[in-house]
Amino acid sequence: MALPIDVVIMAAGKGTRMKSALPKVLHRLGGRALLGHVIDCAARLSARQAVVITGHGATEVEAACARMTGDDADFGLKFARQMPQLGTGHAVQQALPLLQDDGVTLVLSGDVPLTQADTLAALLGQCDGQRLALLTLSMADPTGYGRIVRAGSQASAQVRAIVEHKDASDDQRAIHEIYSGIMAVPTRLLRRWLARLDNNNAQNEYYLTDIVKFAVEDGVAVVAHQITDAPQVAGVNSPVQLAELERVYQLRLATALMEQGVRLADPARFDVRGELVCGQDVEIDVNCLFEGKVSLGQGVRVGANCVIANATIAAGAVIHPFTHIDGEKLGVQVGEGALVGPFARLRPGAVLGAEVHIGNFVEVKNSTLAKGAKANHLAYLGDATVGERVNYGAGSITANYDGANKHRTVIEADVHIGSNCVLVAPVTIGAGGTVGGGSTITKDAPAGSLSVARGKQVSIANWSRPVKKAVS
Ligand code: UD1
Ligand code: MG
Repeated sequence: MALPIDVVIMAAGKGTRMKSALPKVLHRLGGRALLGHVIDCAARLSARQAVVITGHGATEVEAACARMTGDDADFGLKFARQMPQLGTGHAVQQALPLLQDDGVTLVLSGDVPLTQADTLAALLGQCDGQRLALLTLSMADPTGYGRIVRAGSQASAQVRAIVEHKDASDDQRAIHEIYSGIMAVPTRLLRRWLARLDNNNAQNEYYLTDIVKFAVEDGVAVVAHQITDAPQVAGVNSPVQLAELERVYQLRLATALMEQGVRLADPARFDVRGELVCGQDVEIDVNCLFEGKVSLGQGVRVGANCVIANATIAAGAVIHPFTHIDGEKLGVQVGEGALVGPFARLRPGAVLGAEVHIGNFVEVKNSTLAKGAKANHLAYLGDATVGERVNYGAGSITANYDGANKHRTVIEADVHIGSNCVLVAPVTIGAGGTVGGGSTITKDAPAGSLSVARGKQVSIANWSRPVKKAVS
């Protein structure tokens, strides 16, 4: 029975142990808010809607969610506020007006980021539109968690209740099987059971977990779907746990890439905060960080200590060590077989054609370099259009900003710009032209011309330097 799925994500808690002004669910893992991971997972289940329960920092959390989902219009994201926060049962009660009885409710926590969609699909399968299905795990140290209490000591014995650690007897505390905080429940039953909750317990809270008892009383089957992969249900409560899960996440990503054939020098020194797509035979050296959307074409090699964000690197390009690339919204494109770095900086709108060379301490912003153009040392190209085979000398810059507006520099094919030139935009250097080193160019230079704009050299013959006077 495949009923429509409504997801409820609990995210109203304070997250005191994060000791942060930022609401806990907005802390980032793999460059994405914890809550964003949970919403993504819900979207992969083809849920009809997701209701996020907000409380602490509600305005901030709701605004961040709107940014996370963007234009993903086929997935309804709604909010229900929980003020004050009186427990997980009370949290889900706030979503009830938005839930429909023809569906199954899947309860998730906004601070449990690594649950996989296939695990949740299996849990929904166990629920099958009629049972209460709990995601559980056996833990060596279950301290603090709700325990799965069964009718007998056998692992297959009927589930009778979940007992919170603080309410548990010594015998119950000896149970290793814990409730993950994730359940799937037919909504019509959930609605009925939530109406029966009370807060007569050690924490004076309305516990969602008490519905297990009601299911048993009503003769509804309760199934525990036990998994062994602990990170999938691990919550983030502190910076230490956040860092631990970050490593787990990164290692999983690295492993998936290596299984596709990507060669990572060291999967423990590799971070992706976004989406990295790699072609065949990509090699990535140690300590590289990829952010936003990055794609590396076939045979791309990335040297050690590079930061690459929002960029498309075509086949065969080599990014040498310590290069910083950030395309931000405009993106950066590196053409086939291009060589970039070491110590290069590519900024938004840098578009490098095939076999372009960008060397050490060269910055490129909002500029197009055609095939085979080279800027190998200590240079700046901003708002420039650079033709094929141009050679742009060491220390040369485009003066693209007059203090109020940006202007373009056009350097046509086969131009040779000497060292230490200033090209004051707007200006065009015609095809095949040469600009002498040290020139400040303020006027267009015709094709094929030599332009020199600097003080003329004077050499005085037989010059004798001043001599130091003797001190008496
Ligand atoms: C809960 C479970 C426990 C389980 C554990 C797994 C209950 C009563 N207990 O305990 O059985 O082993 O998770 O991690 O459900 N929240 C709200 N509003 C509230 C209270 C909590 O939105 O009033 C949210 C929190 O922000 C969090 C989630 O619900 O995302 C879980 O709350 P938390 O206080 O961490 O529950 P636990 O005591 O850990
Ligand atoms: Mg918790």
